[in-house]
Amino acid sequence: MEIIASAPGKVTLYGEHAVVYGEPAIVSSINKRIYVKCRPRRDNTITISALNLSVPGIILTIDKDGEIKIETDYGRVLSAVSYIKEAIRLTQNYLDIKGGADITVSSEMPVGAGLGTSAAVAVSTIAAYSYSHGYRIPAKEIARLSWETEKTIQGLASPMDSTIATYGGFIYLKYDGKDFDFEPIEDVNELPLVIGYTKRLYKTADMVSKVKNLIDKYPLLGKNVINLIGKIVEMAREALKRNDLTMIGELMNINHGLLETLGVSTKELNHIVYIMRSLGAYGSKLSGAGGGGVAIGVVPRERINEVITALKLIDATPIETSIGGSGLIIEERDG
Ligand code: MEV
Repeated sequence: MEIIASAPGKVTLYGEHAVVYGEPAIVSSINKRIYVKCRPRRDNTITISALNLSVPGIILTIDKDGEIKIETDYGRVLSAVSYIKEAIRLTQNYLDIKGGADITVSSEMPVGAGLGTSAAVAVSTIAAYSYSHGYRIPAKEIARLSWETEKTIQGLASPMDSTIATYGGFIYLKYDGKDFDFEPIEDVNELPLVIGYTKRLYKTADMVSKVKNLIDKYPLLGKNVINLIGKIVEMAREALKRNDLTMIGELMNINHGLLETLGVSTKELNHIVYIMRSLGAYGSKLSGAGGGGVAIGVVPRERINEVITALKLIDATPIETSIGGSGLIIEERDG
């Protein structure tokens, strides 16, 4: 049976990095998805087609000294494929099967941008592969296998991205380095959120180890900053429940300041953050691991178009989406 499984990307609203040190975080799904189609094969061969991933291909630019620079995004696609391979390997071990499959992956968002695409790829691959072979793995196990996939490929990952890709919505999550607990935050009103994306130069693992080095060097300062981020998350949880946009925004600003303190922001991310604020955002912050990637802002609805135009002017890509949508969706197709 052919299966199409899809899972959403995410934005971290509060608490990235501190979540690695046992503090809570709040994360929300976005309404942009990764789709994995899986058709079982009679032999044990696995084929992966990633032709639909948004890859601009090779970009040639000439810098101001006349030097030609070649850029390519193929590395990001190869990285997505390595998550698919590992997700299938772990699922085969879990189910103790070897069945082959033809897999096709496509994405509605840029991959490798800090929107949790690797977890969304892993979650939808595990679901599509197992269901197409007749095994209905429970959501909890899909999330766990996806987290294992991320840890194997990245070396280090909190369960945040795999959890939100599986369950969607708004989630408050706490992780002690081994086990984790999470709770959906119910009844959050639709947040007027704008996402801006700049090229990401560093991997999540690089940014996590940058923060670790800083904390190792300045343990007292580091511990206090991490602690404060945890306090922001607790306050933000209440502000979200009350839909207090002013406080939601101010807490984002404070969280961004502390992420900047931890050394994970960049000039480009700060640019997005400050453009959003100067155009009237309630608040804005980088979202995810940093080192490039995405920044988010809660913006009064009547200002959203202006913010989107301004982002384009500073070469940041606006990503228009609502947040808090469905987690994993599995569709069966006969034939
Ligand atoms: C990356 O999206 C968020 C980090 O907190 C790392 C993690 O939670 O695995 C930086």
